[in-house]
Amino acid sequence: MAFYQIWIRSFKDGNGDGIGDLYGVYEKLEYIRSLGVDGIWFSPIYPSPNADFGYDISDYRDIHPDYGDLAQFRKVLARAHELGLKVIMDLVVNHTSDEHPWFQESRKGRDNPYSDYYIWRDTPNNWDSLFEGKAWEYDETRGQYYLHLFAKKQPDLNMDNPKVREEVKGILRFWLDMGVDGFREDVINFISKKEGLPDGLPFLPAINGMPYYKDGPHIHEYMAEFRKVCKEYDCFQLGEGPLTTVQSALKYLTGPERSLDMMFSFDHMMADCFYTEYIHRPFSLPKLKKAFTKWQNALNGKAWNALYLENHDHPRVISRYGSERFWRESGTMLAASYLFQQGTPFIYQGQEIGMTNIRLKSIEQYVDVSTHTNFHRYHLKDSLEKRMERIHHSSRDSSRTPMQWDHTEHAGFSEAEPWFYVNPNYERVNVEEEEKDPWSILNFYRSCLALRKKSKTLLWGSYREFFPGDRQIYMYERAYGKTRYLIVCSFADKPVRVRMPKEYVDRKGKLVLCNYPRGEREELYRAIKRPDGEQGWFLPYEARVYRVSVTT
Ligand code: NOJ
Repeated sequence: MAFYQIWIRSFKDGNGDGIGDLYGVYEKLEYIRSLGVDGIWFSPIYPSPNADFGYDISDYRDIHPDYGDLAQFRKVLARAHELGLKVIMDLVVNHTSDEHPWFQESRKGRDNPYSDYYIWRDTPNNWDSLFEGKAWEYDETRGQYYLHLFAKKQPDLNMDNPKVREEVKGILRFWLDMGVDGFREDVINFISKKEGLPDGLPFLPAINGMPYYKDGPHIHEYMAEFRKVCKEYDCFQLGEGPLTTVQSALKYLTGPERSLDMMFSFDHMMADCFYTEYIHRPFSLPKLKKAFTKWQNALNGKAWNALYLENHDHPRVISRYGSERFWRESGTMLAASYLFQQGTPFIYQGQEIGMTNIRLKSIEQYVDVSTHTNFHRYHLKDSLEKRMERIHHSSRDSSRTPMQWDHTEHAGFSEAEPWFYVNPNYERVNVEEEEKDPWSILNFYRSCLALRKKSKTLLWGSYREFFPGDRQIYMYERAYGKTRYLIVCSFADKPVRVRMPKEYVDRKGKLVLCNYPRGEREELYRAIKRPDGEQGWFLPYEARVYRVSVTT
């Protein structure tokens, strides 16, 4: 299996209003299928005031009018199924929008049926929110503070209230009855808070309360209740686990209490920063490799990894872990660095064509709530230029620019002025151009997925990393039965010499995939006067996949 993630507002506008929608998705289903994926994950498409672009839901059982309606959703679902694509929805139940009718009722007073749907206190504790200042906001009408771990307009639900859990089950059934195949469960490890909501550590900005709401005391009971409903439909559950550790992820993924099929972990997205963007550092390949290998080893034989490099929360990976100068080379190499690991890959819209970060001139042009908070919260003493550089590198808006379909105006995303800035590189980086080029990033993604699909070794094989300390090369093996694959990825922007592991030196491996066109590769090797080959050199951001048959 492999999944494609759609962040609908920027995917494809089908009704000419400058906003991506389900009409646009319908038009592009064949394209998605052509990548070789087997499913789609929709980031939220429900009604929402968009304080957090859909992750603040005001109605769980409808479609945002910007994106279409339930009839159009059913049409997309049916066509996706015809094409053999599963469809999973985003389940966001740690919080709702403050415009959700439950919250509107809850705030009215302490004695209405919804009064305990949220977490209200007379006196707030010291927790910070992840997105907007303190985690508590005073509500005049109710005369109390409510908890919001994310933006002010995202009040946290009180999952300890059995009625709230019944609501969640009702939402699951609503979409499952319609025929969806599963859910990606937003910040699901945060839904149970420790009784008494104790004060958090004073010195960790943004995440000081985390020890009291991550993997909280009743999390596994609540998850079991939701799992029971999902089991009735045999559906797929994928949890998002911000800052989850291997040990706690295994509790969700294994044993009789297993409540999730897979989990998105975050370790590998911190090879150039710390989650909050509070700490921002140069990219470190050893850090990235360590995170990859930790998860591969820990889950091997016990659970299954959800593999990704980008999504709507992480800026474009070429701009972070690769190089915009070696755009095609690093874009393809990064694909090989994760698509052959053990697990189910997720590809975020635009990643498959190598979209890169946008650089807007002023902070006012950014629309993401956390981008503004980070800008005003951290590193205030730095020059404006430096602070903007951080924003260019880290803003979630960088991955939310309209999808680049062709070289026409607005990148073929819409006939109208798009709701957000199109990256000016669209004339070069777009689907139409890359369809024509057999060596494009787009076609490389297709080749990788096709290779994975036809090989048991790449699907089921064990994982082993070689030379973990190497600062330029990521090398890993997948082994199953008599077949081994060796995947070698150079993260260097210049040619580097590559050692082969002892056991590979004498084996005749077949090069089954490489990200440099053959002629160009030979010419480049000649130009640098270096031999290519098993004991040879790798070009900048070169990636190779070898297949080896083991006879003894
Ligand atoms: C994780 C989602 O991926 C992100 O976009 C959102 O802002 C937070 N959860 C809060 O819902």
